[in-house]
Amino acid sequence: MRFPILFSIFLPLVISISSDPVCTNGFTLVNNKCLKLFTTAASYKVAERSCMDYGATLVTVKNSNDNHAVSTIAGTSVALLWMGLYCFGSDPSRCQWDDSTGSADMYNSFAAGFPHIAVGKCVYYSTQGALAGKWLSGDCEKETKAYICELPITRADDCKYNYNGYCYTFHDVPTAFVQAQETCEKECGNLASVTSANENRYIATLSNRLFSGNFYIGGLWPSSNVFYWFDGSAWNYNNIDPSYSHNANCIAVSNSISSSVASGLWFSIKCHMPYSFVCKRPAGTKCSGNQPIVPVTPVPPTQSFCNSSLLLSPGVITSPNFPFSYDNSEFCSYQLATLGSYNVLLRFSDFATVKGVDFVNVYDGDSVNSKLLGTYTGQLDAFSLVSSGNTMLVTFKSGSGKPAQGFSARFTSYSYGR
Ligand SMILES: *[C@@H]1O[C@H](CO)[C@@H](O)[C@H](O)[C@H]1NC(C)=O
Repeated sequence: MRFPILFSIFLPLVISISSDPVCTNGFTLVNNKCLKLFTTAASYKVAERSCMDYGATLVTVKNSNDNHAVSTIAGTSVALLWMGLYCFGSDPSRCQWDDSTGSADMYNSFAAGFPHIAVGKCVYYSTQGALAGKWLSGDCEKETKAYICELPITRADDCKYNYNGYCYTFHDVPTAFVQAQETCEKECGNLASVTSANENRYIATLSNRLFSGNFYIGGLWPSSNVFYWFDGSAWNYNNIDPSYSHNANCIAVSNSISSSVASGLWFSIKCHMPYSFVCKRPAGTKCSGNQPIVPVTPVPPTQSFCNSSLLLSPGVITSPNFPFSYDNSEFCSYQLATLGSYNVLLRFSDFATVKGVDFVNVYDGDSVNSKLLGTYTGQLDAFSLVSSGNTMLVTFKSGSGKPAQGFSARFTSYSYGR
């Protein structure tokens, strides 16, 4: 009988928090969501990037109230709007929300016959006529539409960078880890933990504007597979460069295009190195406790995946039979994808094919008609590629002769910092 009592105690608390929601960045509170309408038509990719500049995603719709909120904010000025939903197959269960909350299986408002990925993998909302409130499939690159961006609700606070219930401060003064943490504690915070891809994207986008170099977050990496956040948050998300191995105890975020680690990715660094840093504290409620612990979900291991259907990041693809030799006259294709608001980072850790005979092609999109990122053959050192959208296609073709070992590559979601 304990549970019902706890429940009745917690319920009023939840109501008092949600009765005081605020939106930042000029977004409007509509039906418990922070939304902003952009009426200039853009491709899906451009619309995503525009939302990202606010740390936002394209609008997500989880119930009929949300669906109504989209019409409310669109008014009569626009007829069609991109939503933050990307379909990997012609079934709502294969459509994934951009805010990493899963598929559209629980709620959707697709018009009859949709989603239909032969028409397009992106999803748009119709505000007018017989299809008002309905969702349809559209071509992500060729079609342009108006769009709505969405930010999480936060709590009222006079801090400058207020996101999803937290205030962030950016200190562009190179400081060692311990002194940086002390500075954050004086602000009733800690060096920032980064516990979701959306939060990483928010910080990476701002840091590109506010910092001149790499910067500390509150992560510690004391030995090769031990990680934790200084503020006690669970280690349930990270954006460590997959090609980077542990060689020091603190974690920094790359903020430069020229360094060996791509912008927005994390790497290990000796804690006495002076870097810029980001602090974080709960908005509205200063000096409160740590965040709740969230269980870690392990990532399942993967194998060759030659010719398997669309693969959702993260995962590993290899040539057939790797680490043993592939055969002559083989052909494989690998379709890689991540959520609509992220990019694919593909890291080849091993690459050995017969030069001029066996080739790997990588395309910046989901077909061989997409832009070719490169053709690779021979013995190559490890290298990385990043897609401009949320899909990548890899093909492998062997000729005749004595085959080589082949390749192994890991693909991950990449939080594109600008
Ligand atoms: C992969 O698909 C292609 C074309 O559909 C086919 O030619 C090839 O044999 C397949 N590869 C393997 C290893 O099954």
